[in-house]
Amino acid sequence: MISERLKEAINDQINFEYYSANIYLAMEAYFARENLNGFVNFFKVQIQEENLHASKFFDYLNQVGAGITIKGFPDPKNDYKSPLEVFEAGLKHEQIVTSKINNLMSIANEDRDYASITFLQWFVNEQVEEEDTFNNAIQALKRIGDNPAALYLYDQELAARTFVPPASSAASQN
Ligand SMILES: [Fe+2]
Ligand SMILES: [Fe+2]
Repeated sequence: MISERLKEAINDQINFEYYSANIYLAMEAYFARENLNGFVNFFKVQIQEENLHASKFFDYLNQVGAGITIKGFPDPKNDYKSPLEVFEAGLKHEQIVTSKINNLMSIANEDRDYASITFLQWFVNEQVEEEDTFNNAIQALKRIGDNPAALYLYDQELAARTFVPPASSAASQN
Protein backbone atom coordinates (compact mmCIF):
# COMPACT_ATOMS: atom_id res chain seq x y z
CA MET A 1 0.00 0.00 0.00
CA ILE A 2 1.55 3.27 -1.17
CA SER A 3 0.60 6.63 0.34
CA GLU A 4 -0.87 9.48 -1.70
CA ARG A 5 2.10 11.71 -0.90
CA LEU A 6 4.59 9.10 -2.12
CA LYS A 7 2.56 8.58 -5.30
CA GLU A 8 2.69 12.32 -5.90
CA ALA A 9 6.41 12.56 -5.18
CA ILE A 10 7.18 9.65 -7.55
CA ASN A 11 4.98 11.25 -10.20
CA ASP A 12 7.08 14.42 -9.84
CA GLN A 13 10.20 12.29 -10.17
CA ILE A 14 8.99 10.80 -13.48
CA ASN A 15 8.72 14.33 -14.83
CA PHE A 16 12.07 15.32 -13.34
CA GLU A 17 13.85 12.40 -15.03
CA TYR A 18 12.47 13.54 -18.41
CA TYR A 19 13.55 17.08 -17.51
CA SER A 20 17.04 15.66 -16.83
CA ALA A 21 17.03 14.05 -20.28
CA ASN A 22 16.10 17.44 -21.77
CA ILE A 23 18.96 19.18 -19.93
CA TYR A 24 21.36 16.55 -21.27
CA LEU A 25 19.94 16.96 -24.77
CA ALA A 26 20.89 20.65 -24.64
CA MET A 27 24.38 19.62 -23.49
CA GLU A 28 24.56 17.16 -26.40
CA ALA A 29 23.61 20.01 -28.74
CA TYR A 30 26.47 22.13 -27.37
CA PHE A 31 28.98 19.37 -28.14
CA ALA A 32 27.43 18.79 -31.58
CA ARG A 33 28.09 22.49 -32.33
CA GLU A 34 31.69 21.99 -31.15
CA ASN A 35 32.10 18.88 -33.35
CA LEU A 36 33.08 16.79 -30.34
CA ASN A 37 31.32 13.60 -31.33
CA GLY A 38 32.57 11.45 -28.47
CA PHE A 39 30.94 13.90 -26.03
CA VAL A 40 27.81 13.80 -28.20
CA ASN A 41 27.79 10.03 -27.77
CA PHE A 42 28.30 10.39 -23.99
CA PHE A 43 25.13 12.48 -23.75
CA LYS A 44 23.16 10.20 -26.08
CA VAL A 45 23.90 7.39 -23.62
CA GLN A 46 23.13 9.65 -20.64
CA ILE A 47 19.72 10.49 -22.13
CA GLN A 48 18.97 6.78 -22.52
CA GLU A 49 19.82 6.38 -18.82
CA GLU A 50 17.41 9.16 -17.85
CA ASN A 51 14.66 7.67 -20.01
CA LEU A 52 15.25 4.34 -18.29
CA HIS A 53 14.98 6.02 -14.86
CA ALA A 54 11.74 7.71 -15.88
CA SER A 55 10.24 4.51 -17.20
CA LYS A 56 11.21 2.56 -14.07
CA PHE A 57 9.32 5.11 -11.95
CA PHE A 58 6.47 5.11 -14.48
CA ASP A 59 6.14 1.31 -14.38
CA TYR A 60 6.28 1.25 -10.60
CA LEU A 61 3.48 3.82 -10.21
CA ASN A 62 1.48 1.91 -12.76
CA GLN A 63 2.02 -1.34 -10.84
CA VAL A 64 0.77 0.16 -7.61
CA GLY A 65 -2.30 1.49 -9.36
CA ALA A 66 -1.57 5.21 -9.45
CA GLY A 67 -2.65 7.47 -12.29
CA ILE A 68 0.34 9.20 -13.86
CA THR A 69 0.31 12.87 -14.85
CA ILE A 70 2.88 14.12 -17.39
CA LYS A 71 4.01 17.71 -17.05
CA GLY A 72 6.24 20.11 -18.96
CA PHE A 73 9.44 21.73 -17.80
CA PRO A 74 11.40 24.98 -18.19
CA ASP A 75 13.85 25.54 -21.08
CA PRO A 76 17.21 23.94 -20.34
CA LYS A 77 20.45 25.95 -20.43
CA ASN A 78 21.87 25.93 -23.97
CA ASP A 79 24.81 28.33 -23.78
CA TYR A 80 27.91 26.72 -22.34
CA LYS A 81 31.41 28.19 -22.49
CA SER A 82 33.48 25.03 -22.15
CA PRO A 83 33.23 21.25 -21.75
CA LEU A 84 34.22 21.69 -18.10
CA GLU A 85 31.30 24.08 -17.51
CA VAL A 86 28.94 21.49 -18.99
CA PHE A 87 30.11 18.71 -16.71
CA GLU A 88 30.11 20.93 -13.63
CA ALA A 89 26.48 21.80 -14.40
CA GLY A 90 25.79 18.09 -14.95
CA LEU A 91 27.26 17.18 -11.57
CA LYS A 92 25.21 19.89 -9.85
CA HIS A 93 22.10 18.54 -11.54
CA GLU A 94 22.86 14.97 -10.44
CA GLN A 95 23.33 16.22 -6.87
CA ILE A 96 19.81 17.66 -7.03
CA VAL A 97 18.54 14.32 -8.35
CA THR A 98 20.27 12.54 -5.46
CA SER A 99 18.57 14.80 -2.92
CA LYS A 100 15.21 14.14 -4.58
CA ILE A 101 15.78 10.37 -4.49
CA ASN A 102 16.79 10.65 -0.83
CA ASN A 103 13.58 12.55 -0.17
CA LEU A 104 11.53 9.76 -1.79
CA MET A 105 13.36 7.26 0.40
CA SER A 106 12.65 9.35 3.52
CA ILE A 107 8.92 9.36 2.71
CA ALA A 108 8.94 5.60 2.08
CA ASN A 109 10.72 5.10 5.42
CA GLU A 110 8.26 7.31 7.30
CA ASP A 111 5.42 5.36 5.68
CA ARG A 112 7.11 2.02 6.51
CA ASP A 113 6.43 1.21 2.86
CA TYR A 114 8.90 -1.66 2.46
CA ALA A 115 8.03 -2.35 -1.18
CA SER A 116 8.85 1.24 -2.12
CA ILE A 117 12.01 1.20 0.02
CA THR A 118 13.22 -1.87 -1.90
CA PHE A 119 12.29 -0.28 -5.23
CA LEU A 120 14.01 3.02 -4.37
CA GLN A 121 17.22 1.33 -3.21
CA TRP A 122 18.20 0.79 -6.87
CA PHE A 123 18.05 4.57 -7.43
CA VAL A 124 20.09 5.30 -4.29
CA ASN A 125 22.87 3.09 -5.70
CA GLU A 126 22.42 4.48 -9.21
CA GLN A 127 23.00 8.03 -7.99
CA VAL A 128 26.39 7.06 -6.56
CA GLU A 129 27.31 5.93 -10.08
CA GLU A 130 25.80 9.02 -11.73
CA GLU A 131 27.73 11.45 -9.53
CA ASP A 132 30.90 9.41 -10.02
CA THR A 133 30.50 9.54 -13.82
CA PHE A 134 30.32 13.34 -13.82
CA ASN A 135 33.08 13.69 -11.21
CA ASN A 136 35.41 11.54 -13.31
CA ALA A 137 34.79 13.68 -16.38
CA ILE A 138 35.41 16.87 -14.38
CA GLN A 139 38.75 15.50 -13.14
CA ALA A 140 39.72 14.48 -16.69
CA LEU A 141 38.76 17.88 -18.14
CA LYS A 142 40.72 19.71 -15.44
CA ARG A 143 43.81 17.66 -16.33
CA ILE A 144 43.23 18.33 -20.03
CA GLY A 145 43.04 22.08 -19.46
CA ASP A 146 43.67 23.94 -22.73
CA ASN A 147 45.42 21.06 -24.48
CA PRO A 148 43.50 20.35 -27.74
CA ALA A 149 45.35 17.06 -28.37
CA ALA A 150 44.36 15.77 -24.94
CA LEU A 151 40.75 16.89 -25.51
CA TYR A 152 40.77 15.05 -28.85
CA LEU A 153 41.89 11.84 -27.13
CA TYR A 154 39.29 12.18 -24.38
CA ASP A 155 36.59 12.76 -27.00
CA GLN A 156 37.62 9.46 -28.61
CA GLU A 157 37.43 7.73 -25.23
CA LEU A 158 33.88 9.01 -24.69
CA ALA A 159 32.89 7.75 -28.14
CA ALA A 160 33.18 4.24 -26.70
CA ARG A 161 30.54 4.71 -23.98
CA THR A 162 27.57 2.41 -24.56
CA PHE A 163 24.20 2.13 -22.91
CA VAL A 164 23.92 -1.07 -20.91
CA PRO A 165 20.47 -1.58 -19.43
CA PRO A 166 20.77 -3.12 -15.95
CA ALA A 167 19.70 -6.77 -15.86
CA SER A 168 16.91 -6.05 -13.37
CA SER A 169 15.31 -3.50 -15.66
CA ALA A 170 16.04 -4.98 -19.08
CA ALA A 171 12.75 -6.82 -18.78
CA SER A 172 9.62 -5.31 -17.33
CA GLN A 173 9.25 -5.14 -13.57
CA ASN A 174 7.14 -8.29 -13.45
FE1 LIG B 1 18.12 9.94 -13.54
FE1 LIG C 1 21.02 11.02 -13.94
